[in-house]
Amino acid sequence: MRIIRTAVEMRDAVEPARNDGVVVGLVPTMGALHAGHLALVRRARLDCGLVVVSLFVNPTQFNANEDFDSYPRNEAHDLELLERNGVDIVYAPTAAEMYPDGFGVTVTVTGLTEGLCGARRPGHFDGVTTVVSKLFAHCRPDAAYFGEKDYQQLKVVERMVLDLDLSIRIVGIPVVRERDGLALSSRNAYLNVYERRIAPALQDTMRAVAGRLSGDVELEAQCRWGRDALLAAGFDEVDYFEIRDSKTLQSVEACRPGLRVFVAAWLRETRLIDNVAVDEVE
Ligand code: PAF
Repeated sequence: MRIIRTAVEMRDAVEPARNDGVVVGLVPTMGALHAGHLALVRRARLDCGLVVVSLFVNPTQFNANEDFDSYPRNEAHDLELLERNGVDIVYAPTAAEMYPDGFGVTVTVTGLTEGLCGARRPGHFDGVTTVVSKLFAHCRPDAAYFGEKDYQQLKVVERMVLDLDLSIRIVGIPVVRERDGLALSSRNAYLNVYERRIAPALQDTMRAVAGRLSGDVELEAQCRWGRDALLAAGFDEVDYFEIRDSKTLQSVEACRPGLRVFVAAWLRETRLIDNVAVDEVE
Protein backbone atom coordinates (compact mmCIF):
# COMPACT_ATOMS: atom_id res chain seq x y z
CA MET A 1 0.00 0.00 0.00
CA ARG A 2 1.41 3.39 -1.03
CA ILE A 3 1.02 6.48 1.12
CA ILE A 4 0.97 9.73 -0.83
CA ARG A 5 1.01 13.25 0.61
CA THR A 6 1.09 15.57 -2.43
CA ALA A 7 -1.34 16.31 -5.25
CA VAL A 8 1.32 15.97 -7.94
CA GLU A 9 2.42 12.55 -6.71
CA MET A 10 -1.22 11.48 -6.41
CA ARG A 11 -2.04 12.43 -10.01
CA ASP A 12 1.12 10.68 -11.22
CA ALA A 13 0.19 7.54 -9.27
CA VAL A 14 -3.24 7.10 -10.90
CA GLU A 15 -2.15 8.11 -14.40
CA PRO A 16 -0.76 4.70 -15.53
CA ALA A 17 -3.83 2.88 -14.18
CA ARG A 18 -6.16 5.27 -16.01
CA ASN A 19 -4.16 4.88 -19.25
CA ASP A 20 -4.48 1.10 -18.92
CA GLY A 21 -8.25 1.38 -18.49
CA VAL A 22 -8.15 0.29 -14.85
CA VAL A 23 -11.23 1.53 -12.93
CA VAL A 24 -10.15 3.89 -10.12
CA GLY A 25 -12.27 4.07 -6.96
CA LEU A 26 -11.97 6.75 -4.27
CA VAL A 27 -13.25 6.53 -0.70
CA PRO A 28 -12.97 10.03 0.80
CA THR A 29 -12.68 9.98 4.62
CA MET A 30 -11.54 12.12 7.52
CA GLY A 31 -9.87 9.10 9.14
CA ALA A 32 -10.82 7.69 12.58
CA LEU A 33 -11.97 4.74 10.54
CA HIS A 34 -14.64 2.29 11.65
CA ALA A 35 -16.61 -0.56 10.09
CA GLY A 36 -18.80 1.95 8.23
CA HIS A 37 -15.77 3.24 6.32
CA LEU A 38 -14.58 -0.31 5.73
CA ALA A 39 -17.93 -1.16 4.10
CA LEU A 40 -17.18 1.60 1.58
CA VAL A 41 -13.67 0.23 1.04
CA ARG A 42 -14.99 -3.31 0.55
CA ARG A 43 -17.48 -2.14 -2.08
CA ALA A 44 -14.80 -0.08 -3.85
CA ARG A 45 -12.52 -3.13 -3.80
CA LEU A 46 -15.26 -5.21 -5.48
CA ASP A 47 -15.94 -2.57 -8.16
CA CYS A 48 -12.51 -1.15 -8.93
CA GLY A 49 -9.04 -2.22 -10.04
CA LEU A 50 -7.32 0.55 -8.07
CA VAL A 51 -8.67 1.67 -4.69
CA VAL A 52 -7.63 5.00 -3.19
CA VAL A 53 -8.71 6.08 0.30
CA SER A 54 -8.16 9.68 1.35
CA LEU A 55 -7.48 10.64 4.97
CA PHE A 56 -7.90 14.37 5.55
CA VAL A 57 -9.62 16.17 8.42
CA ASN A 58 -10.93 19.06 6.37
CA PRO A 59 -10.82 22.32 8.35
CA THR A 60 -13.17 24.20 6.01
CA GLN A 61 -16.19 22.03 6.81
CA PHE A 62 -16.04 22.80 10.56
CA ASN A 63 -17.45 26.00 12.02
CA ALA A 64 -15.42 27.98 14.57
CA ASN A 65 -17.38 26.51 17.51
CA GLU A 66 -17.16 22.92 16.26
CA ASP A 67 -14.86 19.98 17.01
CA PHE A 68 -12.06 20.37 14.42
CA ASP A 69 -9.32 20.40 17.08
CA SER A 70 -10.70 17.45 19.04
CA TYR A 71 -11.80 15.38 16.02
CA PRO A 72 -10.32 11.88 16.57
CA ARG A 73 -7.09 11.31 14.64
CA ASN A 74 -5.10 8.08 14.59
CA GLU A 75 -3.30 7.76 11.29
CA ALA A 76 -1.19 4.74 12.28
CA HIS A 77 -4.31 2.74 13.18
CA ASP A 78 -6.14 3.90 10.03
CA LEU A 79 -3.22 2.83 7.83
CA GLU A 80 -3.12 -0.60 9.45
CA LEU A 81 -6.86 -1.10 8.82
CA LEU A 82 -6.60 0.06 5.21
CA GLU A 83 -3.64 -2.19 4.50
CA ARG A 84 -5.55 -5.15 5.93
CA ASN A 85 -8.53 -4.30 3.72
CA GLY A 86 -6.57 -4.36 0.48
CA VAL A 87 -6.35 -0.64 -0.28
CA ASP A 88 -3.80 0.28 -2.96
CA ILE A 89 -3.15 3.95 -2.20
CA VAL A 90 -3.78 6.15 0.83
CA TYR A 91 -3.87 9.84 0.01
CA ALA A 92 -3.16 11.83 3.19
CA PRO A 93 -2.35 15.41 2.20
CA THR A 94 -1.52 18.19 4.65
CA ALA A 95 -3.78 21.24 5.08
CA ALA A 96 -1.13 23.37 3.33
CA GLU A 97 -1.22 21.01 0.35
CA MET A 98 -5.01 21.25 0.08
CA TYR A 99 -5.30 24.96 0.90
CA PRO A 100 -2.06 26.72 -0.06
CA ASP A 101 -1.65 30.44 0.71
CA GLY A 102 -3.97 32.48 -1.46
CA PHE A 103 -6.46 29.65 -1.99
CA GLY A 104 -9.63 31.45 -3.07
CA VAL A 105 -12.25 29.05 -4.45
CA THR A 106 -15.43 27.77 -2.84
CA VAL A 107 -17.66 25.20 -4.51
CA THR A 108 -21.28 25.76 -3.50
CA VAL A 109 -24.30 23.58 -4.17
CA THR A 110 -27.51 25.55 -3.63
CA GLY A 111 -30.96 24.21 -2.72
CA LEU A 112 -30.11 20.80 -1.28
CA THR A 113 -27.76 22.42 1.25
CA GLU A 114 -30.30 24.82 2.70
CA GLY A 115 -32.18 22.65 5.22
CA LEU A 116 -31.26 19.96 7.77
CA CYS A 117 -27.50 20.08 8.58
CA GLY A 118 -27.02 22.98 6.14
CA ALA A 119 -29.31 25.17 8.23
CA ARG A 120 -27.54 24.24 11.48
CA ARG A 121 -23.97 24.27 10.20
CA PRO A 122 -23.59 27.32 7.93
CA GLY A 123 -20.84 26.83 5.35
CA HIS A 124 -20.38 23.15 6.22
CA PHE A 125 -21.42 21.83 2.81
CA ASP A 126 -19.33 24.47 0.99
CA GLY A 127 -16.35 23.02 2.84
CA VAL A 128 -17.37 19.48 1.87
CA THR A 129 -17.96 20.21 -1.82
CA THR A 130 -14.78 22.26 -2.08
CA VAL A 131 -12.57 19.56 -0.56
CA VAL A 132 -14.32 16.74 -2.44
CA SER A 133 -13.77 18.66 -5.73
CA LYS A 134 -10.07 18.89 -4.90
CA LEU A 135 -9.86 15.22 -3.94
CA PHE A 136 -11.55 14.34 -7.25
CA ALA A 137 -9.07 16.52 -9.14
CA HIS A 138 -6.09 14.92 -7.37
CA CYS A 139 -7.24 11.26 -7.43
CA ARG A 140 -9.20 11.35 -10.74
CA PRO A 141 -11.56 8.51 -9.75
CA ASP A 142 -14.12 6.78 -11.98
CA ALA A 143 -16.25 6.07 -8.91
CA ALA A 144 -16.43 7.54 -5.41
CA TYR A 145 -18.05 5.98 -2.34
CA PHE A 146 -20.04 7.81 0.36
CA GLY A 147 -21.99 6.49 3.35
CA GLU A 148 -25.74 7.05 3.60
CA LYS A 149 -25.37 8.07 7.23
CA ASP A 150 -24.41 11.49 5.85
CA TYR A 151 -27.34 11.26 3.47
CA GLN A 152 -27.58 14.99 2.78
CA GLN A 153 -23.85 15.04 1.97
CA LEU A 154 -24.37 12.15 -0.47
CA LYS A 155 -27.17 14.02 -2.28
CA VAL A 156 -25.14 17.24 -2.35
CA VAL A 157 -22.11 15.47 -3.87
CA GLU A 158 -24.36 13.73 -6.43
CA ARG A 159 -25.75 17.16 -7.42
CA MET A 160 -22.27 18.67 -7.68
CA VAL A 161 -21.06 15.87 -9.94
CA LEU A 162 -24.16 16.18 -12.13
CA ASP A 163 -24.07 19.96 -12.45
CA LEU A 164 -20.32 20.15 -13.05
CA ASP A 165 -20.50 17.34 -15.66
CA LEU A 166 -17.89 15.29 -13.80
CA SER A 167 -17.81 11.74 -15.13
CA ILE A 168 -17.58 10.16 -11.69
CA ARG A 169 -20.09 7.57 -10.49
CA ILE A 170 -21.21 8.36 -6.94
CA VAL A 171 -22.06 5.22 -4.99
CA GLY A 172 -24.06 5.46 -1.74
CA ILE A 173 -23.58 2.69 0.81
CA PRO A 174 -26.22 1.87 3.48
CA VAL A 175 -25.63 2.89 7.09
CA VAL A 176 -23.65 0.38 9.17
CA ARG A 177 -25.01 0.05 12.70
CA GLU A 178 -23.97 -1.34 16.07
CA ARG A 179 -26.02 -4.29 17.31
CA ASP A 180 -28.24 -1.92 19.28
CA GLY A 181 -28.94 0.20 16.19
CA LEU A 182 -26.58 3.12 16.77
CA ALA A 183 -25.17 4.25 13.42
CA LEU A 184 -21.38 3.96 13.32
CA SER A 185 -19.70 7.37 13.42
CA SER A 186 -16.24 8.60 14.33
CA ARG A 187 -17.96 10.95 16.79
CA ASN A 188 -19.38 7.98 18.78
CA ALA A 189 -15.93 7.93 20.42
CA TYR A 190 -16.93 11.10 22.31
CA LEU A 191 -19.81 9.36 24.13
CA ASN A 192 -19.39 8.36 27.77
CA VAL A 193 -20.98 5.14 29.07
CA TYR A 194 -24.18 6.90 30.11
CA GLU A 195 -24.57 8.73 26.78
CA ARG A 196 -23.72 5.59 24.81
CA ARG A 197 -26.71 3.86 26.48
CA ILE A 198 -29.06 6.66 25.40
CA ALA A 199 -27.72 7.00 21.83
CA PRO A 200 -29.63 4.08 20.19
CA ALA A 201 -32.89 5.95 20.96
CA LEU A 202 -32.05 7.96 17.85
CA GLN A 203 -32.72 5.10 15.47
CA ASP A 204 -35.47 3.56 17.66
CA THR A 205 -37.38 6.85 17.56
CA MET A 206 -36.91 7.36 13.81
CA ARG A 207 -38.14 3.85 13.17
CA ALA A 208 -41.11 4.32 15.52
CA VAL A 209 -42.10 7.48 13.63
CA ALA A 210 -41.55 5.84 10.24
CA GLY A 211 -43.78 2.96 11.37
CA ARG A 212 -46.58 5.40 12.24
CA LEU A 213 -46.64 7.02 8.79
CA SER A 214 -49.61 5.91 6.76
CA GLY A 215 -52.81 7.33 5.33
CA ASP A 216 -53.57 10.89 6.34
CA VAL A 217 -51.39 11.01 9.45
CA GLU A 218 -50.07 14.54 10.10
CA LEU A 219 -46.30 14.54 9.49
CA GLU A 220 -45.61 17.65 11.53
CA ALA A 221 -47.25 16.06 14.60
CA GLN A 222 -45.20 12.88 14.14
CA CYS A 223 -41.98 14.92 14.05
CA ARG A 224 -43.01 16.73 17.25
CA TRP A 225 -43.66 13.33 18.83
CA GLY A 226 -40.20 12.12 17.70
CA ARG A 227 -38.50 15.21 19.08
CA ASP A 228 -40.25 14.84 22.46
CA ALA A 229 -39.43 11.11 22.57
CA LEU A 230 -35.71 11.89 22.09
CA LEU A 231 -35.72 14.49 24.85
CA ALA A 232 -37.56 12.03 27.12
CA ALA A 233 -34.94 9.36 26.32
CA GLY A 234 -32.18 11.68 27.59
CA PHE A 235 -31.02 13.70 24.57
CA ASP A 236 -30.20 17.29 25.58
CA GLU A 237 -31.26 19.06 22.41
CA VAL A 238 -32.74 18.15 19.04
CA ASP A 239 -31.44 20.20 16.09
CA TYR A 240 -34.03 18.74 13.75
CA PHE A 241 -36.43 15.83 13.42
CA GLU A 242 -37.88 15.99 9.94
CA ILE A 243 -39.50 13.92 7.23
CA ARG A 244 -38.39 14.84 3.72
CA ASP A 245 -38.41 13.54 0.18
CA SER A 246 -35.49 11.11 -0.26
CA LYS A 247 -34.45 12.46 -3.66
CA THR A 248 -35.00 16.22 -3.45
CA LEU A 249 -34.73 16.60 0.35
CA GLN A 250 -37.75 18.92 0.08
CA SER A 251 -40.18 19.14 3.01
CA VAL A 252 -43.39 17.23 2.44
CA GLU A 253 -46.93 17.81 3.63
CA ALA A 254 -48.40 14.33 3.41
CA CYS A 255 -47.53 10.68 3.52
CA ARG A 256 -46.40 9.11 0.24
CA PRO A 257 -43.72 6.69 -0.98
CA GLY A 258 -40.07 7.79 -1.11
CA LEU A 259 -39.86 9.60 2.23
CA ARG A 260 -37.00 9.61 4.73
CA VAL A 261 -36.79 10.56 8.39
CA PHE A 262 -33.81 12.76 9.28
CA VAL A 263 -32.56 13.54 12.76
CA ALA A 264 -29.73 15.46 14.44
CA ALA A 265 -29.58 15.59 18.22
CA TRP A 266 -27.13 16.36 20.99
CA LEU A 267 -25.96 14.25 23.90
CA ARG A 268 -24.16 16.94 25.89
CA GLU A 269 -21.25 18.02 23.64
CA THR A 270 -21.79 15.33 20.99
CA ARG A 271 -23.97 15.89 17.96
CA LEU A 272 -25.27 12.69 16.35
CA ILE A 273 -27.09 12.45 13.02
CA ASP A 274 -29.01 9.59 11.45
CA ASN A 275 -31.69 8.88 8.87
CA VAL A 276 -33.93 6.05 7.76
CA ALA A 277 -36.00 5.38 4.62
CA VAL A 278 -39.67 5.18 5.64
CA ASP A 279 -40.35 2.49 3.01
CA GLU A 280 -37.71 0.22 4.58
CA VAL A 281 -39.42 0.22 8.00
CA GLU A 282 -42.03 -2.51 8.47
O1 PAF B 1 -17.87 12.31 5.20
C1 PAF B 1 -16.71 12.72 5.47
O2 PAF B 1 -15.94 12.05 6.16
C2 PAF B 1 -16.27 14.07 4.93
O3 PAF B 1 -17.31 14.98 4.91
C3 PAF B 1 -15.61 13.98 3.54
C4 PAF B 1 -16.58 13.49 2.48
C5 PAF B 1 -14.41 13.04 3.61
C6 PAF B 1 -15.10 15.36 3.12
O4 PAF B 1 -14.17 15.86 4.02
